[in-house]
Amino acid sequence: MSWFEGLLVRLKGGHHLRRVSPEKARSLGSKAWRPSLGQVGEKILLAGGATLLALVLLGLGALARPREWCALAALLTLACMGLAAYLRDFRPEALRSLARLVGLSAAILLPVVVLFLSDQTLGGVDLAWLPISFVSLILALAWGRALALEAVVVAGVLLAAYLALHDRLAGPELSGLVVALGGGVTAALAAKSVKRRADLFRIGVLIGCIQAALSAGFVLMLPEAPGLGELADLLRVLLVGVVVGLLVSGLLPMVEAFLDVTTDISLLELGNMHSSPLLRKLLIEAAGTFHHSYVVGLLAEGAAEAIGGDALLARVGALYHDVGKLNKPEYFAENSPNARDRHKNLAPEMSMLIISAHTRDGVELGRYYGLPRALLDFMVEHHGTSCIEYFYQQALTLRGEDQVSEGSFRYSGRRPQSKEAAIVMVADAAEAIARQMTDPSIGRLQEMVHRVAMKRLMDNQFSECALTLAELEAIERAIVRVLSGIHHTRPTFSKGKPNPLDLSRSPAEVVEGEEDGEAQPTRPRRSGGRRTKKGPDRKAGNVSSGGNPE
Ligand SMILES: [Fe+2]
Ligand SMILES: [Fe+2]
Repeated sequence: MSWFEGLLVRLKGGHHLRRVSPEKARSLGSKAWRPSLGQVGEKILLAGGATLLALVLLGLGALARPREWCALAALLTLACMGLAAYLRDFRPEALRSLARLVGLSAAILLPVVVLFLSDQTLGGVDLAWLPISFVSLILALAWGRALALEAVVVAGVLLAAYLALHDRLAGPELSGLVVALGGGVTAALAAKSVKRRADLFRIGVLIGCIQAALSAGFVLMLPEAPGLGELADLLRVLLVGVVVGLLVSGLLPMVEAFLDVTTDISLLELGNMHSSPLLRKLLIEAAGTFHHSYVVGLLAEGAAEAIGGDALLARVGALYHDVGKLNKPEYFAENSPNARDRHKNLAPEMSMLIISAHTRDGVELGRYYGLPRALLDFMVEHHGTSCIEYFYQQALTLRGEDQVSEGSFRYSGRRPQSKEAAIVMVADAAEAIARQMTDPSIGRLQEMVHRVAMKRLMDNQFSECALTLAELEAIERAIVRVLSGIHHTRPTFSKGKPNPLDLSRSPAEVVEGEEDGEAQPTRPRRSGGRRTKKGPDRKAGNVSSGGNPE
């Protein structure tokens, strides 16, 4: 989906139906991201265009002789090449797509464009009003604070060059530039953990306050005493910060669609099970898959935290990873006890087609509900290109090795492209196996999770996501820790000393137990998971595992 289509979907409230044929989804899922020659050419063209625009903005009205233009063009070309090399090595995410590069170039050039246009039309503007904080806040939300700070520095250098070429790098112009840059730096530093839209308003107020403080400092350094005019200027600068916060909050969906990114605010909104229509649909129509996805989300969140990854993205991605099962929930074991019988009547190849379809069905459903690409990637990548062993073995038994190809029993998706997707891949399998284990002790869980991870590693499923072996080990440890917390054992209370919180016992039993007196030997029992014991244990398990997943 292009950025323009994404924008249309968001503007229409995410209910723009796009039918995707399995063949199209298959081609979408099978290709790893690689910069093709066409993309590289487009990027070079874009860099050339941006350099030319910067040359015109800086030189027009300041340079007259051809040699001056040539010198400036050479300097800007060198600067552009240096910036491109820096982005390639340190910020590759900014070069992921043409839309991102256009967004970054526009963000860096916007303050100079505003200054140039205001000079041409209004005869000048207070530099403290330049939209550097606006640009910085958007970049910080989209690609992180470090890139926002770097963009502020580059934009500041361009503005300083503009003022220097026009002999204006002094007095109020210089102080205005410092105030605007101060707002930009504040925006980048303050956008640390923006989880709600109200946070953006608070950041806007902070930007305004810092800008007003910087402005007040310059006013107090003037020889003449400050008057009402200076006070009004301070208020205007303060207001600029507040407007920036409100503007970014309102424009966020469009910015996300344009820059092809998903911010934490959107992820939190999408991960809200009460407000997301797709998650509610999953809860109602495929409750087993919903519960599985919820637990996978917990495992993925813990594992992503353990390796310093994006825990929120991992959790929300896990929540949606299996929504494709909504098309045929009854064919998946977690939703129906008869799922196995349904598959008994089918050829292994047909069962494999039904099971493997959930990755591309998920993409189709996700697009229908306007999910961002960051979440669709989890649907395509959580099984990678792994083999559906169960039906492959069944086909081997039925037809023999000569008649069955392992490749035709592999998922048609894509290997994980991010560490978070790799985490969901391991957590997905580990959760499914753990709920079938009769005795999920920590030792057994460790062994099982290690086997799951190693099997995928040896199958080359992590070859495209730069996951290190140390990180894989940390992921295993985190998954085991969370799984052992979910499937933990606890001592039962003796008949003589009933647990007052044990709701499986009637009040009469409790009274009886209390009268029995002496404690009995204890035995461990599980508090969660599917295979809890019948009777009182089972009820106790249900209560302790919590009715509301939120
Ligand atoms: Fe799946
Ligand atoms: Fe799953």
